[in-house]
Amino acid sequence: MKGIVLAGGSGTRLRPLTTITSKHLLPVYNKPMVYYPLSVLMLAGIREILLISTPEHLPGFRALLGDGSRLGLRLSYAVQTAPRGLADALLVGGEFVGDDPLALILGDNVFYGHELPSVLRDEVGKLDGCTVFGYPVADPERYGVAVTGEEGRLVDIEEKPARPRSNLAVTGLYLYDNVALRYAAELTPSARGELEITDLNRRFLAEGRARLVNLGRGTAWLDTGTPDSLLEAGVFVQVLEKRQGVQIACLEEVAYRMGYIDDHGLRELIGQVGPVTEEGRYLVRVLEAAI
Ligand code: TTP
Repeated sequence: MKGIVLAGGSGTRLRPLTTITSKHLLPVYNKPMVYYPLSVLMLAGIREILLISTPEHLPGFRALLGDGSRLGLRLSYAVQTAPRGLADALLVGGEFVGDDPLALILGDNVFYGHELPSVLRDEVGKLDGCTVFGYPVADPERYGVAVTGEEGRLVDIEEKPARPRSNLAVTGLYLYDNVALRYAAELTPSARGELEITDLNRRFLAEGRARLVNLGRGTAWLDTGTPDSLLEAGVFVQVLEKRQGVQIACLEEVAYRMGYIDDHGLRELIGQVGPVTEEGRYLVRVLEAAI
């Protein structure tokens, strides 16, 4: 399976923070935002990843992440020339995806949960059509909302409904069969001129091949699109990291624990970041199996 991180858009709600940089390069506590979705794909077992951003901001991502080889990944980059919608990622990334299934994650989505990696790997293994991940929220009217039938089966997805029929928001992580590339190419833009991900997901719903996985309240799914939610996500990460002494979305650690790099690779990374920096000291503890 190939992975796509969609990290374009306008970031208007975060201006002036986003006047000269991408929202996805802003800090969520001690890491750039894009680390969090990237770590989710890595934990799902995905190592070939395309990062999509705007023409002006793509160089920043390339400088930050390079070709990914130091993390045992193959990272590539593509430009979305205008914010044409989430489903446009499948058109921009079509060549990269080739004949494979794909996972699409939005670059501003922060997920955290003990069960998450195993749930994702399980879902990747049994993918047939499209899989979306629902999360209970207090304000479903702000999101695409999953309408469920008996046994939690997905019946419909309603975009920002005035009267939500459930409290399950559809999160920014989607798994697709390769046929999604063709379906995305057949979409027509919505009234706001975007290729809507909900329209793509509805194609699969119409064939009875869209599956909903409820992440449940034991997982955290955080928003980072406004000054308040960005700060709250940062505090969430800070509280957990300080309390537990382990990091969330430390890419070097994830690469090591997933077996993408070995002891030698991790030692090299420690050398690069400096063994006496906070990051270096943390990685030394990972290497020495102290955490
Ligand atoms: P949004 O939060 O809907 O939009 P935005 O990031 O442009 O922010 P704002 O509403 O404040 O202007 O986007 C969700 C995610 O998808 C975010 O990570 C940006 C990304 N995105 C793209 O990369 N391309 C697009 O065409 C759109 C619509 C969003």
